[in-house]
Amino acid sequence: MDQMDSEQRFRPRHEADLDPSLLFLPASDPQVEKKHGLSRRRKVFVGVALLLTAVALSLLTGLLVWHLHLRDGTKVTKVYVGSMTISNQNFLLQYEDPTSAEFIQLSELVSTQLKVIYSENSVLDKYFTHCSVQTFSDGGTDVMAFYQSEFDAPLSQQQSVDDALRSVENSLTPSQTQRGQMGRLMRPSTDIRVYRLMSAAVDPRLSRTSLHDRKSFDVHVSHADQLASPGFPDSSYPPGVLLQWRLRADPFHRVRLDFGSLVLEDDCEQDFIRLYDSLVPSERHLLTERCGSAQKSLSFLSSGNVMLLVLLTSEDRNFPGFIANYSQTPLLDSDCGGTLTADRANFSSPFFPSFYPPAVSCVWNIQVSEGKLVKVEFHRFSVGIRSELCPNDYVEVDGQRLCGDSLKNSTIISKSNAVTIRFTSDTSFVHQGFIAEYRTLVSTQPHLLQLCSEFSFLCGDGVCVRKDNPQCDGHVDCEDGTDEEHCECGVRPYLSSKIVGGQDSREGEWPWQVSLVVRGMGHVCGASVLSDQWLLTAAHCVQDSAGIRFSQADQWEALLGMHMQGHTDKWTVRRGVRRIVAHPRYNAVTFQHDIAVMELDANVTLNQRVWPICLPTSANHERPGTHAWISGWGSTKEGGFRASVLQKATVQIINSTQCSKLMSDDVTDHMMCAGTLQGGVDACQGDSGGPLSVTGSGGRFFQVGVVSWGDGCGRKNKAGVYTRVSKYRRWIKEQSGV
Ligand SMILES: *[C@@H]1O[C@H](CO)[C@@H](O)[C@H](O)[C@H]1NC(C)=O
Ligand SMILES: *[C@@H]1O[C@H](CO)[C@@H](O)[C@H](O)[C@H]1NC(C)=O
Ligand SMILES: *[C@@H]1O[C@H](CO)[C@@H](O)[C@H](O)[C@H]1NC(C)=O
Ligand SMILES: *[C@@H]1O[C@H](CO)[C@@H](O)[C@H](O)[C@H]1NC(C)=O
Ligand SMILES: *[C@@H]1O[C@H](CO)[C@@H](O)[C@H](O)[C@H]1NC(C)=O
Repeated sequence: MDQMDSEQRFRPRHEADLDPSLLFLPASDPQVEKKHGLSRRRKVFVGVALLLTAVALSLLTGLLVWHLHLRDGTKVTKVYVGSMTISNQNFLLQYEDPTSAEFIQLSELVSTQLKVIYSENSVLDKYFTHCSVQTFSDGGTDVMAFYQSEFDAPLSQQQSVDDALRSVENSLTPSQTQRGQMGRLMRPSTDIRVYRLMSAAVDPRLSRTSLHDRKSFDVHVSHADQLASPGFPDSSYPPGVLLQWRLRADPFHRVRLDFGSLVLEDDCEQDFIRLYDSLVPSERHLLTERCGSAQKSLSFLSSGNVMLLVLLTSEDRNFPGFIANYSQTPLLDSDCGGTLTADRANFSSPFFPSFYPPAVSCVWNIQVSEGKLVKVEFHRFSVGIRSELCPNDYVEVDGQRLCGDSLKNSTIISKSNAVTIRFTSDTSFVHQGFIAEYRTLVSTQPHLLQLCSEFSFLCGDGVCVRKDNPQCDGHVDCEDGTDEEHCECGVRPYLSSKIVGGQDSREGEWPWQVSLVVRGMGHVCGASVLSDQWLLTAAHCVQDSAGIRFSQADQWEALLGMHMQGHTDKWTVRRGVRRIVAHPRYNAVTFQHDIAVMELDANVTLNQRVWPICLPTSANHERPGTHAWISGWGSTKEGGFRASVLQKATVQIINSTQCSKLMSDDVTDHMMCAGTLQGGVDACQGDSGGPLSVTGSGGRFFQVGVVSWGDGCGRKNKAGVYTRVSKYRRWIKEQSGV
């Protein structure tokens, strides 16, 4: 039904306008009957409007309320409504008829049971006054009893009654893990087995004492039909009434209620409807409260097979009210969620655009082909109430919770080709939910992949960037910027233009170059500066040999910022070595794992001649043919003298397959080869432990190798073999923190 339709037909009436001949309900109050009624029966009104007998009416009187009777000057009556799940009874149709012997008998058992439960708690025992069963419903495998309990407690004790009820109920309600062991048989009534008890206070407005009438209608929704407020749409609803429709679906079904039109007073303090996921107005199961007029059609679903619709009206300015279709829909375990593998699909909260039911949980696993990313776009989004932690209802995308209703068209791009989306609603306050569409992306730059492969960089946030050596290249590739963090390394703070000789370096050209000297022997090995405290060198440099304890830190001295052997200046830093950590699996025969770190005995202050070199990540790889640099004070030719001025040479990275052939298969994937196949350029004795460096795309120097071994020096068709630093990135970090 179109809402405009009803608005046009509606005109507010004063009581005097009401046609006294109109009847709206089979009511016991002749005054109400006369004033406000349903004129024509052409609207199916109130579905199956079960007559409630005098017994039911008396039960209802004074229910659903916070009674605030002042007794003894201090005590107030607090009313709770709740539900009890009885697991060892079969539902009988007579349980819906409060006059039946069966109803009365089971009600007595429930009341007795409640009294026993309350009597076991000192607070409840002290203040409990009265309880009564309102109605039963068919839970399929069990019977649900809906009851009301009253407690007379001093105002100061109200909270302790709340707490006591909660603790008693928690002890009766099996937790998730205990689901199997249902039931707690209680004394003295062994006839009913209770395994869940849940109660809550009632909204104080439902306790208006000025009401003319309170009525309940029992509606079975298995036969879809309509219900409407009295008089809809021709006359306004009656003033000062509390009406409730108890909607029941077959077991294992949900109740569905679709409002065609809803026009109430704008002020919710005056008139409102409320929907509960229960047959009693338990605040813990309040699905929604509505007043004013709905701009669009509203549809609601229950979590189980019951729902309660309450209409409360005030004395004046009454409105047309509402009309709604009711029906039932099967309760399927897998209403929602699942695995989605298509390149593109839509998914939504259950029953969208209807309001999602309470207590649902859906998980979608989107899994697309490797190398692709998933872009999820929410076209409509209204889930829970906006808050930082989203404690109630929420959508969770890869662990990130979303809630609120201002997320229209928000887009999330996954970090891999798999995304998990979870939707969860709690027991109260439902919303319209969401509709989302996902599609796959083949991202260009940066290229992201699932699980970082050997050739991708792992950002701090877990994203893999597939790009050749993105670290410190001057371009932010990681969303969190971690690829450009700690990038002070690998630059030359000062490079003089003074060229000393052909292969001689310029001053400051290799500020990470270190000369390692053994006391009494002079320069023995090279090393590189990793930080103000740590050096990197080769394990073979620090092995005891020929009676010299090279493995002992105190044998060593490190010279940093030195250009010419034997010449130190204000930039040169001399440090002792506190600790040497050679790779524990270094093999002196095969030269496997030829790598070591050294801790200096005191930090150095970095200066224009002392600067750390960058280390490649484990994803780093150098293509054959890449130009690289070696530097050191080693022999300039095989069997020659050590150089005095720091030497440099450019070499090329050599294909490992090819290198293995040249070097008779002694090259492992933890080593790399560099040189020029024409010969003549190579690292030689004395260069050991020094760096093989390349320049990254940002111009920084990265140490990709440690000078390890060779077959002579600079021989034709022989290459220098270097420890492949990227394979040891983690080990270096573990040892030195760098
Ligand atoms: C209610 O049911 C009637 C008849 O089946 C249908 O015409 C109408 O569109 C329904 N309204 C809503 C809001 O579903
Ligand atoms: C998803 O829904 C939108 C409209 O809501 C539609 O245009 C689109 O074709 C749908 N996509 C798929 C894959 O069904
Ligand atoms: C959201 O996206 C849909 C389809 O892409 C578009 O029709 C709609 O106008 C957008 N809404 C907003 C608020 O941007
Ligand atoms: C040396 O530097 C490191 C980090 O750079 C620092 O943690 C350490 O405390 C410093 N040591 C001394 C003795 O200053
Ligand atoms: C190395 O060379 C071999 C043959 O010479 C070739 O098959 C292989 O693809 C090369 N590897 C790289 C990484 O270039």
